[in-house]
Amino acid sequence: MSQQNIYDNDAFFESFQSSRNKEVNFNDCIETPILFAMLPDLHGKKILDIGCGMGQHAKQYSEMGAEYVLGIDISEKMLDYAQKHNNAENVAYQRMAMEDIGTINQQFDLVTSSLVFDYVEDFGGLMHKVYLLMKDDAEFVFSMSHPIVTAWDGAYDRYTRTETGERLYANLRNYCKEGIRKVDWVVNGYECYHRTVSTLINSLIKAGFVIEECQEAHISDDMRQQYPALFGGTIHRPEFIFFRCRKDN
Ligand SMILES: C[S@@+](CC[C@H](N)C(=O)[O-])C[C@H]1O[C@@H](n2cnc3c(N)ncnc32)[C@H](O)[C@@H]1O
Repeated sequence: MSQQNIYDNDAFFESFQSSRNKEVNFNDCIETPILFAMLPDLHGKKILDIGCGMGQHAKQYSEMGAEYVLGIDISEKMLDYAQKHNNAENVAYQRMAMEDIGTINQQFDLVTSSLVFDYVEDFGGLMHKVYLLMKDDAEFVFSMSHPIVTAWDGAYDRYTRTETGERLYANLRNYCKEGIRKVDWVVNGYECYHRTVSTLINSLIKAGFVIEECQEAHISDDMRQQYPALFGGTIHRPEFIFFRCRKDN
């Protein structure tokens, strides 16, 4: 596999696992509630979860009435955790790069993905492959890092702060320059891909999707006041962007 598989790096995996398993974290307090509010009724649905990671969502889909969930991920460590901690009779985990989903010989009622598409170089190509895996009335619900976040190239501070460290405003540079970002974040040489909001929207339309809903990450004032170090920046910029799409039959 030529894709970066950073979640199999020991230091990165441990850091991700420890922040994902904290009681208060970005995934459980911001990402998952918004994504789950965008899901259709899961009863009897066949679901593909692209980049299932440690399997939390796949297990929850099963508990929410899904008929069958297939979780795919590139990382052995993430899948190992998923098998051990988030197994269920109707959940299957498979090691596969998202770039290879065209080899899956099934069609789904729902395709989901949480915070994974930052890692794909050819976003438009992937959207086309997702489209082909969906039944005619299927839905596609996903989140990814917001382009305002992926624009960061590591060469400037994400926020301008007061002398006491309070975030005054978010900084943005090179937003219009799409492509790979190689930054030192948790480990040296972390890679993700940046594209603009219009590229995301136009790629979905070109693949044949109708966009039914778009959300940007948000959290309550209460949570922001309760956890200022963690969530203080969320007033200035949305960390994630979410789409719910349907096939344009
Ligand atoms: C931020 S984690 C999200 C995991 C999970 N969806 C969640 O919400 O907890 C990103 C996941 O994408 C996976 N990933 C990265 N590149 C991938 C690729 N090319 N193909 C499949 N999975 C990939 C990683 O291994 C990791 O499990």
